[in-house]
Amino acid sequence: MYNIAVIPGDGIGKEVMNATIDVLKSLDIDFNFNYGEAGDECLEKNGVALPDETIQLARNSDACLFGAAGETAADVIVRLRQELNLFANLRPVKSYPNTNALFDNLDFMIVRENTEGMYIAKEEEYTEEGAIARRIITKKAERRIIDYAFQYAKNNNKSKVTGVHKANVLKITDGLFKETLYEVAEEYKGEIDVEDFYVDATAMYLITRPQDFEVIVTTNLFGDILSDEGAGLVGGLGMIPSGNIGEDGALFEPVHGSAPDIAGEGIANPMAMMLSAVMMLNYLEEHEAEENLNNAILKVLEEGKTLTPDLGGNSTTTEVKDAVIKALK
Ligand code: NAI
Ligand code: MG
Repeated sequence: MYNIAVIPGDGIGKEVMNATIDVLKSLDIDFNFNYGEAGDECLEKNGVALPDETIQLARNSDACLFGAAGETAADVIVRLRQELNLFANLRPVKSYPNTNALFDNLDFMIVRENTEGMYIAKEEEYTEEGAIARRIITKKAERRIIDYAFQYAKNNNKSKVTGVHKANVLKITDGLFKETLYEVAEEYKGEIDVEDFYVDATAMYLITRPQDFEVIVTTNLFGDILSDEGAGLVGGLGMIPSGNIGEDGALFEPVHGSAPDIAGEGIANPMAMMLSAVMMLNYLEEHEAEENLNNAILKVLEEGKTLTPDLGGNSTTTEVKDAVIKALK
């Protein structure tokens, strides 16, 4: 029995979450879904965007599913990542048929450090004309994320990890990252290969030969930028899931927001949320269910008959959900 914290949030967050929970209920796994409030509506109702009860609920869960928040997104999701110490941000780059993917054979994972680097956002005035931003790189946090990337590669039958940095310019901080990459690689010698590229070259390789990547590991800001480039390669917010992993907790969410322009119309693409649930099943090591759900989504896409408008179809969220559940059987 798994305790899953379910935080639908606002707008289409609620719509894609409902569809995904129905799909999870049709799997042969004993889930206990516990709902928590967060987001704009919660702020209006309770005076707080992320209540303590919701944080507790997430903390006490085996995994957490998050839909999307609106204007309060930063207060909700950034805070949840901090409170749960979710140090690894997982952003898969995977192409699916009948989507706007630019390449039809991509399947790699970007593992982004989520706790330090440029995103500590410690900025101050430097001179009257300028300002300074600090970027913190610690052995401990980089080792943890690189370890995670190699372990992920091993558990998911990947043969190579690519470390991305700018150690030719940032000799001390990214020098430490690169040194740590090869220290960890030593422990996986003969099992998982290692290579490293500069971030600028990587930005180009993602366009010129993205098929060569298996697992990319990098620091916070580089990971943020490269993962959106990856999203561009496989096209369309409605298809992009993500995971945030900690030492004793994890949260899975679509990359998209609450989409006020289509909220309430029942036409949101639930696949990014469903693919986030696929990532959760991977994390819970429910690999059979993971594969079944992934294949069901793939089947619906391949048939191309039940697609939401963002993928060029005219089906509703509910029709896509029903098609996925049917494909599971
Ligand atoms: P958005 O992701 O909500 O929407 C961008 C565009 O993509 C819209 O045209 C929308 O209709 C479309 N879209 C997004 N997801 C879709 C789906 N599943 N199916 C079909 N179409 C989809 O980003 P936007 O418009 O910049 O922000 C809207 C609100 O969402 C803002 O209040 C923002 O703060 C919040 N937001 C929350 C996030 C989160 O909770 N993690 C992330 C990004 C934005
Ligand atoms: Mg981003």
